[in-house]
Amino acid sequence: MTRHLLSAADLSRDDAVLILDTATELARLSDRPIKKLPTLRGRTIVNLFFEDSTRTRSSFEAAAKRLSADVINFSAKGSSVSKGESLKDTALTLEAMGADGVVIRHEASGAPHRLAGWIKGSVVNAGDGTHEHPTQALLDAFTMRRHLGNLDGRRVAIVGDVLHSRVARSNVLLLRTLGADVTVVAPPTLLPVGIDGWSCAYSYDLDAVLPKTDVVMMLRVQRERMNASYFPNAREYSRRYGLDAARMAVLPDHAIVMHPGPMNRGMEIAAEVADSARSVIVEQVTNGVSVRMAVLYLLLGGSESAIGVEPLPDELTETEGGAA
Ligand code: NCD
Repeated sequence: MTRHLLSAADLSRDDAVLILDTATELARLSDRPIKKLPTLRGRTIVNLFFEDSTRTRSSFEAAAKRLSADVINFSAKGSSVSKGESLKDTALTLEAMGADGVVIRHEASGAPHRLAGWIKGSVVNAGDGTHEHPTQALLDAFTMRRHLGNLDGRRVAIVGDVLHSRVARSNVLLLRTLGADVTVVAPPTLLPVGIDGWSCAYSYDLDAVLPKTDVVMMLRVQRERMNASYFPNAREYSRRYGLDAARMAVLPDHAIVMHPGPMNRGMEIAAEVADSARSVIVEQVTNGVSVRMAVLYLLLGGSESAIGVEPLPDELTETEGGAA
């Protein structure tokens, strides 16, 4: 494990389990009246978002603040400088401000990787183009573990716009590391060309996959990344690949329904499914804060190679105000 989190592939099984276990400890904080730890006091974390975000950005901000870090939110929207230059200039500015960690979301795949070469602090990829979104995969795995226990041999279906989904790619990588069996399901036009090389199965037939699934993760149809027509129309897409109540009924009783958000209700997921007892979509958001706290803590929390070696210090189990 390096000092950055750029890809889910950077994580060994031990790294991933350490993050998830640390997040479990940290999740206990949210039941307390004072939800803050002093762990990252005096450290500066910059949220550098070049793409829109509701959940991820506020989740990283909440995570950093709960660890007492100073947070700077950079609004990168509206920059007139070309992407490469703008990113490098911004990186140098952040460096000059003494950023210990930079959380970056960028429309260009590979941008976090470039940034990591320019600055001394830790870089966390919060979504780069259609490439990766490793903390989303970690919070998804955390949520699955809470409901299903160990993920070894568990069957996960990831359904929808796999082609444009960094969530799908990071999940396939991480779930494989954690021993789950993943099947991605999509129309042929929405599967990437190199899908044969992914460490998962794939199918065009949602109805055949659902009865054998422990987790079904629906993906948003990402129209903003589409430069062509990938399916005839929304109704047709929904009929073949949408999760409605009838389809949900064929899932095994213990199966859970996930979605990274934002949802297109009525398109890839019916409102009654999103709001059903099987849906853990809101819980995913809650878990995201604990998982991002764990990532920031392990990357920045003190000793050089925090991830992969150290047990949790006692301070993690105590709140600043001493509230029980
Ligand atoms: C996803 C993203 O931005 O990659 N959302 C998220 O981070 N929760 C998925 C999406 O935009 O559909």
